[in-house]
Formats: sequence, C-alpha cells, structure tokens
Amino acid sequence: MMEQHEQFAQAAEYYKKQKGSAAILDQETTVAFLRETQDIYGYIPAHALETIALCTGYKVPLLQKIIKLYPSLKASNAAHEIVVCSGGRCGGANAALLSQLKKGLEQLPANTAEVRTQNCFKQCGKGPNIQLDGVLYHQCNADTVNAILQKIKG
Ligand code: FES
Repeated sequence: MMEQHEQFAQAAEYYKKQKGSAAILDQETTVAFLRETQDIYGYIPAHALETIALCTGYKVPLLQKIIKLYPSLKASNAAHEIVVCSGGRCGGANAALLSQLKKGLEQLPANTAEVRTQNCFKQCGKGPNIQLDGVLYHQCNADTVNAILQKIKG
C-alpha cells in the first residue's frame, strides 16, 4: 500500500495541474482536494494545508475558512505536529522513540500534539529523524524525545 505522503504528493501533483496557469483553482475543485487529503490522513493536517495553498493559490487562512464552511471537513485541532520517520534507516530506532513519545504525550493535555509517521525524510545519513512543527531533529535518541516533550509542554 502506498504511504500517506506518497498518496498526498500524487494528489497535490494532480490538483496543481488542474490549476495550471490560473491564479487560483476553483473552489469546488479545491474542496475536492481537501476532501481527498482528509481521506488520506483521516483529517487535514497543518503540513498538508501549506502544500494545498501552494497548489491551489489559496492562502492558508482562507483554506481554514473553507474547511469551517464544510462540516464534513476536519482540520487538526492539535497545537503541534510531530512526524516520526519510519523509513528503512530510521524506523528501527524510531519505533522505541515513537512509543516513548506516545507515552509522554499521554501525560499532556489532549490536542497538545498529533503524531504521525512518514516513510523517510531523505536525510537518512543524519537519522534517526523526528520532525516537530516542520523542524527536523537528527540523530534522535531518548533525550531528544524528552526535549521535544519539554518543548511542547511549554
Ligand atoms: S529513513 Fe529516515 S530519513 Fe530516510
């Protein structure tokens, strides 16, 4: 089965072509893209919203307004996004870090952070890699996970 980010990348490519040289993609097709994103991830993650903005010509705040207009669409409510690499070079070490992370998050208020995995950030030589709010942490270990948890606690 294709990884979520590959599916999303394919969708992004498709909708970018739909927009072509127009300034913005029409709203109906943009909503279709949002819906497809939700089908892939189960909700519309913040990182996807930035890509959708680039592909459709809509700014992120406008996309957020569109999402609110459609009760069937759901953006993430989490304050932070953590992406743990599950690729061949990072996945083994990150499996333990992922469970440490999840245990740590259980102690924090709901919606502090959403966690997902991604198959390779293409930075394998610097792994294991974990991304917090778009910033990639390299050579991660238990201390890095504790530092991430401390950071989102504040
Ligand atoms: S496997 Fe983690 S960055 Fe490639």
